[in-house]
Amino acid sequence: MKLKMQALRVSILGCLLLGGTAASATDIEVLHWWTSGGEAKAAAQLKSIMESKGYTWKDFAVAGGGGENAMTVLKTRVVSGNPPAAAQIKGPSIQEWGAEGVLMNLDPVAKVEKWDHMLPKAVADIMKYDGHYVAVPVNVHRVNWMWVNPAVFKAAGVDVPRTWEEFPAAAKKIRAAGYVPLAHGGQPWQDFTVFESVVLGVGGADFYRQSMVQLDQKALHSDTMKRAFQVFGSLRADIDPDSPNRDWNQATGMVINGKAAMQLMGDWAKGEFTQAGKIPGQDYECVAAPGSQGSFTFNVDSLVMFKQNSDDEAKGQQALASAVLSPAFQKVFNLAKGSIPVRTDMSLDGFDACALKSAQDFQAAAKAGTLVPSIAHQMAVPAATSGAMQDVVTQFFNAPNASVDEAVDQLARAAQVQ
Ligand code: BGC
Repeated sequence: MKLKMQALRVSILGCLLLGGTAASATDIEVLHWWTSGGEAKAAAQLKSIMESKGYTWKDFAVAGGGGENAMTVLKTRVVSGNPPAAAQIKGPSIQEWGAEGVLMNLDPVAKVEKWDHMLPKAVADIMKYDGHYVAVPVNVHRVNWMWVNPAVFKAAGVDVPRTWEEFPAAAKKIRAAGYVPLAHGGQPWQDFTVFESVVLGVGGADFYRQSMVQLDQKALHSDTMKRAFQVFGSLRADIDPDSPNRDWNQATGMVINGKAAMQLMGDWAKGEFTQAGKIPGQDYECVAAPGSQGSFTFNVDSLVMFKQNSDDEAKGQQALASAVLSPAFQKVFNLAKGSIPVRTDMSLDGFDACALKSAQDFQAAAKAGTLVPSIAHQMAVPAATSGAMQDVVTQFFNAPNASVDEAVDQLARAAQVQ
């Protein structure tokens, strides 16, 4: 990102000197990729809270699950010297943008509102660059979920698989009963999302941490990683021929409509069930991805604020940061989004069984040392590294005869990309 960023610094400076952005003082432009039914409903909550404070919300939504498209568009906008007021940026990327000196320091609002006291330390640390808050967290998503249609399981006469050993036999029976075992959208980030849950379920949290966070070469070359690729490859038999390019929410729709039995996806999928009026424990189940009970892959959405050229805009950005962490917003947003509040001091009254389970499992995993960052959702390693690893994973999944040994070598090499 370095070279591009030099151009960026020059153009931001030019922009500041010429006073040249298109935004008016009370406009708040927010870049995000929340465009599915549940996501859009959640984003609308932020819009309405900002409008109630007298700001004009400029929606900068870039469709594309996982946010790759949004990040590409963001870079173009920043390089051209016209960054949005706020953008959804997560994990280690916050450090990369912080190092470019283009982010606004949110310490003034963080101090007054005592963010250090209301956020889990692990989350607060991710939001800080050089000891200063430069991002505000929105929620906590769990990635290692499996979404289940119980009626399909009943019709097929099988139990929900709890391990990867149990999975193939269950999938076979579901297929024989005329259903798609696994709803999947063939897009690189969705392949990677499934892969990380398989790695966690096959190898456990310590192995996941060694291989996907510390990028330890021994772990990456291990037999456990080979087994993870074998299991992952076997899932090709459990998806349907129309999966290439399918959006994640359409795959969720297949579980909602009873066409498919399961989907491995983070709990933004729950937003789609909620939006469709479905009740957990009745119409659908949320269970940990096979083998990953007791572990929690976290994915925290956050907004960074880009330095703007007027005090009024800065005030608007602080108001936005403050709104994001207000209890009222944390509740309405997360109810629609499928995630749980990021504040540790909030009651979960009104949240459903999946949210309660997520909150409980988050605490338990934090205590047990099994809370791990999602690599597919940019929480674990720099974007260049996870992008290279994602390429290997998706190429493997899309080549039915791909060799596991070669994939393991390629993944280990990709993990060295910086
Ligand atoms: C984001 C979620 C979003 C999902 C699907 C994830 O990376 O963290 O907020 O709902 O992608 O687009």
